[in-house]
Amino acid sequence: MIDLRSDTLTRPTEAMRAAMARADVGDDVYGEDPTVTELQERVAAMFGHEAALFTPTGSMANVLAVASVVRPGEEVLCDSSAHIARAELGAHGAISGITMRTWTGERGQLDLAAIESMYAPDMGPFFVRTAAVSVENTHNFAGGAVLPLDDLRDLRAWADTTSTKVHLDGARLWNAHVATGTPLADYGRIADVLAVCLSKGLGAPIGSLMVGSADAIDEARVRRKRMGGGMRQVGVLAAAGAYALDHHVDRLADDHAHARLLGEALGLDPESVDTNIVVVDRPDATAFVAAAADEGVRIAAVGPRAVRLVTHLDVSRADAERAALVLSRLVDR
Ligand SMILES: Cc1ncc(COP(=O)(O)O)c(C=O)c1O
Repeated sequence: MIDLRSDTLTRPTEAMRAAMARADVGDDVYGEDPTVTELQERVAAMFGHEAALFTPTGSMANVLAVASVVRPGEEVLCDSSAHIARAELGAHGAISGITMRTWTGERGQLDLAAIESMYAPDMGPFFVRTAAVSVENTHNFAGGAVLPLDDLRDLRAWADTTSTKVHLDGARLWNAHVATGTPLADYGRIADVLAVCLSKGLGAPIGSLMVGSADAIDEARVRRKRMGGGMRQVGVLAAAGAYALDHHVDRLADDHAHARLLGEALGLDPESVDTNIVVVDRPDATAFVAAAADEGVRIAAVGPRAVRLVTHLDVSRADAERAALVLSRLVDR
């Protein structure tokens, strides 16, 4: 089976497991795990922020990050297919007591005009106040689409005029960085707070980080513990993330090339495939997924008419070529 359902399906490599086994550890709730501390400082520096906090999941990093800039009873604006809106099971409302309003961007893109028209300043007892705008780069359900840096800079400039905060869901920001050559610090500059994942394309078995100011991270550390996310000798997991940052960032370019191959096989313009995710409209999504599985290629239906394929560390060039052949035959059937 060639498994293209998600880039979260990777298994740690032998070298990554060896790095995990070697990790120096301590109790991280006491702030005494050197491997975690080093990873947090390293990732904060990569984005030009003061501090970072290791979390088990990207969802927890997002919940903590958004809660650091939006108080209970306030709102965050985001794209209607954003992961925080669609796939975090209402956590931001259920746990943090915040509300969301959404715009619908073409391929998950920013719509500054829509944001400006939705924006609600503090009107006392009349309207919910817009505290933050959240953007996702790359955008998962929009097929791994990259948000152009110029658009993000425009958002930053507008946010500064209204004292609105910017949250960046950068679960796959590494993919945007490799696809465009944009320095990570440039992405860091447009956001007040970020969430990044080590467990997607980078191939770590677990691990994400919230990145932001020292004060926001101090507060998030308390919230993380309250949510049951205070972890102990977790350096064994942070070591996998550090290994991934050392060895698995540049190779994302291979995943992107493989995704273009698959996109082409499905009848898309390969230029429309920005990174490692391909989302294609298929009226017969469920049947198409089942037919591909019968031919040894696992893909996922992410909507009644939407099929998603994701390339990753465990998909070789030969796998991608074989999957492309299978899929192009199914399309022609
Ligand atoms: C864009 C985006 N943000 C956040 C997450 C959440 O990550 P996790 O599954 O680690 O909670 C995902 C997961 O796929 C994602 O695609």
